[in-house]
Amino acid sequence: MKTVTSLSELRAARAELPAPIGFAPTMGYLHEGHLSLGRRAKAECASVVFSIFVNPTQFGPTEDFNAYPRNLPADLALLETIGVDLVWTPTPAILYPPGFQTWVTVEEITQPLEGGMRPGHFRGVATVVAKLFNAVGPDKAYFGQKDAQQVAVIRQMASDLNFPLEVVICPTAREPDGLAMSSRNTYLTPEQRRAAPVLFQALQAAQASYTRGERDAEALRQVMSRVLAAEPLARPQYVSCADPLTLQELQTIERGALLSMAVFVGKTRLIDNLVLG
Ligand code: PAF
Repeated sequence: MKTVTSLSELRAARAELPAPIGFAPTMGYLHEGHLSLGRRAKAECASVVFSIFVNPTQFGPTEDFNAYPRNLPADLALLETIGVDLVWTPTPAILYPPGFQTWVTVEEITQPLEGGMRPGHFRGVATVVAKLFNAVGPDKAYFGQKDAQQVAVIRQMASDLNFPLEVVICPTAREPDGLAMSSRNTYLTPEQRRAAPVLFQALQAAQASYTRGERDAEALRQVMSRVLAAEPLARPQYVSCADPLTLQELQTIERGALLSMAVFVGKTRLIDNLVLG
């Protein structure tokens, strides 16, 4: 496994790799969810590239950019175990040199849900992912379903800007108690960690209601809100039952739905989702 930092090193190393190339962009502090992307890429591609970059432009001014967990040696050791070929660890100055002023803005599907709560977040995500795609030139790019709206935004961006690649979505990796794996879970105290699976429990309760025949979206939002309300450490920011393509809130479920939520547990903001139908 080769690790490079500069753009010229990346280009030289990339040129040596046999195609097709699978690529997983990450912000590091890797867990099983990231490794599952790598294993899938390994199964489907001749070469696998990862990037590790905590992207400052997708964090709001009051968010956790400085506190975001980082451990490059541990990340590299994990990537080695799954047979990754190339890891790119650019610096902020490489991706955002002085005078940088070009941004990628995906318009409609960035407005609801996470976009409503985190202004500017998806502009930062779409811009950095476009830059990573340009530099790495992958045939397939792997993302986790845990960030459902991010996946929708990246698909839209890749299609609108004619990136010649396939966006592959992999299932959310979960802890045995259902908590979606996230680098941010490390912020939770033991008591908060015990409370955190309530997000998945709320999603499962709504899914059970859907399976029994409920098609009223507001009824499903209420099912999720009731489960969350029973956990004193959980403070929901939003609870949604939306169209899986447009991400607009639904009244009646006709062709499936994306159940999603953002919930504070202590100071940690957790997100999770589940697709119905
Ligand atoms: O999902 C993430 O880790 C980040 O949003 C991504 C896609 C690597 C862009 O910084």
